[in-house]
Amino acid sequence: MQAFNDIADFSKDEISALIELATRLDRSPEPEALKGKVLSLLFLSPSLRTLASFQAAMTRLGGGSFVISPDMSIHGLESRPGIVMDGIAAEHIREAVPVIASYGDAIGIRAFAERKNLQHDLDEVEFSSLTELIDTPYINMESAMGHPCQNLADWKTMNDLGIPSNDGKFVLSWAFHPRALPLAVPASTLQMAAQRGMDITVLRPHGFELPEPIMHKARDAAAAAGGSIRESIDRREAMQDAHVIYAKSWSSTAHYGDKIADQELRNELDDWCVDDSWFDNARKDCRFMHCLPVRRGVVVADSVLDGPRSVVIPEARNRMLAQMAVLHQMMRIQK
Ligand code: CP
Repeated sequence: MQAFNDIADFSKDEISALIELATRLDRSPEPEALKGKVLSLLFLSPSLRTLASFQAAMTRLGGGSFVISPDMSIHGLESRPGIVMDGIAAEHIREAVPVIASYGDAIGIRAFAERKNLQHDLDEVEFSSLTELIDTPYINMESAMGHPCQNLADWKTMNDLGIPSNDGKFVLSWAFHPRALPLAVPASTLQMAAQRGMDITVLRPHGFELPEPIMHKARDAAAAAGGSIRESIDRREAMQDAHVIYAKSWSSTAHYGDKIADQELRNELDDWCVDDSWFDNARKDCRFMHCLPVRRGVVVADSVLDGPRSVVIPEARNRMLAQMAVLHQMMRIQK
C-alpha cells in the first residue's frame, strides 16, 4: 500500500481485509511485524487520539515513531508558496516535510482545512501540496475533507456491534458547537457509511447541507453498495428505526469562510444537542457514535454519552487497531 488517503480508494473487499487484519492483530499480537521500521508523524493540527494511537500502534507492532508539530521547539514553519522569508519563520515546509519523511519508512500527516474557500478545501489543495513533496508511503491523519483512519475504525466498530451493512439505518447528524468546525469527519463518514451499503439520513439544519460534490460521490457509492442517502431537517422522522446516530458539528456551507454569518446562523441552533428524547422512535438498541473530542452538554447530553447507547470509547480504541492494520499492510517486513 503506497497511500492511505481516502476511504473511497478502497473496495469493500479491501476494507473487509483490513478490518479482519485489525481484529486478528488484536487477538494475536505480532510484536515483531514492523521491527526496525519507523513512522514519521507530522501534526500541523491538534490531536489526542490520532497522536497517541499511531504511536501505540507502531510500538505494538515492534516499530518506532517520532512526532513533529509546530508547538514543539522546532523552527517556525512557513507554508506560503513563493514567499520571501524575511519574517519570523525560519524554515519552509518545502524542506521540512521531505526531511521528516526521509527519516521514516512511511509518514502520517495531519493538516486541517483552511476553511476560507470551499472549492480550495474540496480540492484538498493544502494536503496535496504536502504529499507532492514526498515519495514515501503516506497516511492521511485528517485533511480538509478526509479522515480515513477514523472511517476504518468506525466501520470496524459497527461490525463489532453487529450493525448491519445493507438495511442498517445510519443517521449522520449535525450537532451544535460554539465554533465552526471542519467538514472532514462528516464528509468522509458519509462516504464510509455509503460504501458500507447503509440507508443513510443526513440530518442537518438549513445552511448546513453538505457540499454537493461530497453528496454526489457518496450517492454513487451508496447506489453501488445497495444503500441509499436522503436528507432531513426533521429529527423525529430521521431517527425512525435508526441503528446508529453519528453526531458531529460542522461549518455552515451556506456561509463557508464567513465566521460572522456562520456564528449568527449557529447561535440559533443550540437545541441541536443529542439527548435521550432524540431516541424516542429509534430502535431500542440504537447506538451513539462520535469521533471525539466531544463537548459534553453542548453536542451531546451526559446521559447519552455515559449511557449504554454510547460506543465512543471502543470506537476510539478501534482507531489504534485499524491503524495497526494499515501500517502492517504498508510497512510489513517481507520474509
Ligand atoms: N477523532 C480524532 O481524530 O481525534 P483527535 O483529533 O484527538 O486525533
